Amino acid sequence: MSPGRTVMRLTVSRRETVADGVVVLDLRDPSGSDLPPWTPGAHIDLVPAADVVRQYSLCGDPADRTVWRIAVLREPDGRGGSRAVHDRLHEDDLVETRGPRNHFPLVPAPRYLFVAGGIGITPLLPMIAAVASAGADWRLHYGGRSRGSMAFRSALCSAYGARVSVHPQDETGLLDLDAILADEPPDTPIYCCGPEPLLQAIERRCPDRPLHLERFAPSEPGEPVRAGSFEVELARTGRVLTVPPGRSILRAVQEAGVEVLWSCTEGTCGTCETTVLDGAVDHRDSLLTPAERAANDTMFICVSRAAGPRLILDL
Ligand code: FES
Repeated sequence: MSPGRTVMRLTVSRRETVADGVVVLDLRDPSGSDLPPWTPGAHIDLVPAADVVRQYSLCGDPADRTVWRIAVLREPDGRGGSRAVHDRLHEDDLVETRGPRNHFPLVPAPRYLFVAGGIGITPLLPMIAAVASAGADWRLHYGGRSRGSMAFRSALCSAYGARVSVHPQDETGLLDLDAILADEPPDTPIYCCGPEPLLQAIERRCPDRPLHLERFAPSEPGEPVRAGSFEVELARTGRVLTVPPGRSILRAVQEAGVEVLWSCTEGTCGTCETTVLDGAVDHRDSLLTPAERAANDTMFICVSRAAGPRLILDL
């Protein structure tokens, strides 16, 4: 089993409120063993209650193999995952985790721009620590509703000083993306995580820039390229399945009795990633970059479909 698919029950060894509505959890192996390695940008699946699986970025130090740290914002209008974490997970509880996986890796560069909205700061924390210790040039623009809601704000400002610009909405309004981007050379890699309106706003402004986004809510993919059914050939057995409109490839594959891993079923977690051997993909996930989509060699079968009559998958 690859590290990305490891299932473990970990102990909540520390629980601390670090900002309005934001709790930090440290997770450790109950036996004290090292946890699987991870790199900045990685996330884990957390199962805080039965049938509740949510993805949270690891925001601690990858060099410390004894602990995984996550920060969770209570979202009163969410689907219940963050409420389960806030209300039901206490210190010394055991909680199921899967992962880690990384669909938001840092590319090597001499300079970076980081843009965070609210709890979207979490995957950027280990990235910033890594680029700072590597001596790269970087800036962080961190927006949030108010200073009190912005987790890790003080620590970032004390550690990195003028590299960090804080933009509390109740004091200065929304992040001025046009001004932020105007200050950056066009080839600076941009890493952004936050609420969907921020992600869409920066996407609109960066069609030709090296923009890397982390989404934990699905983007709206629009209508499928192909209105009718299509075929999926399972290369390992040669079986051919017909996938009708309205049914996912994941579902069709499961109904055919083939075991595949899945978690979010909405194209955000990466668990169902499947290698594409042939055929054009209608990518409908919230994970792949335009270049990764164009490569057409992998897909997330919970949401993505065929753009043509047949796909051949490594299943
Ligand atoms: S199950 Fe999460 S991306 Fe497919």
